[in-house]
Amino acid sequence: MKKDPLELKIDLGSKERAKLCSFLQELLASSYSLYLKTQNFHWNVTGASFHSYHLMFQDQYEELAEAIDEIAERVRALGYFSEGSFASFAGKSLVQDAKEGVSTPMKMIEILLEDHERVIRYLRKGLPLAENVGDGATADFINKRLAVHEKTAWMLRSTVTHI
Ligand SMILES: [Fe+2]
Repeated sequence: MKKDPLELKIDLGSKERAKLCSFLQELLASSYSLYLKTQNFHWNVTGASFHSYHLMFQDQYEELAEAIDEIAERVRALGYFSEGSFASFAGKSLVQDAKEGVSTPMKMIEILLEDHERVIRYLRKGLPLAENVGDGATADFINKRLAVHEKTAWMLRSTVTHI
């Protein structure tokens, strides 16, 4: 990642900021991939409940679109340039592209649930990185993202569970 040549006087060491930014850049790549995958499912879902899945996926990708912007801007605030290319995202994302072809709504939901849970585990692992160096703003942001992904995962889980 490219460092911003402007000096930061925010009492957060450059090594610490480098680590945090690389964590955030992977989160950015993963969130962007999840955004695209969710929008892909919004376009391609079929079936009797088309409308409700179409709208549920729309709510989810719209939320991710806002989050992506905040993640990239957090990287800038910590003194690095945000990478914003498909090549960078493909190399750093935890979320794999959706396979092309027909899939059932339930399969789509299972896939998204796995991805949200993967991002939740990544966020939880990264939280101490911010907490241990006193970067409260990044820690708050990670906690906010955890809450959103956990809520989305709950909704997806409840949609595929038949009890
Ligand atoms: Fe749409």
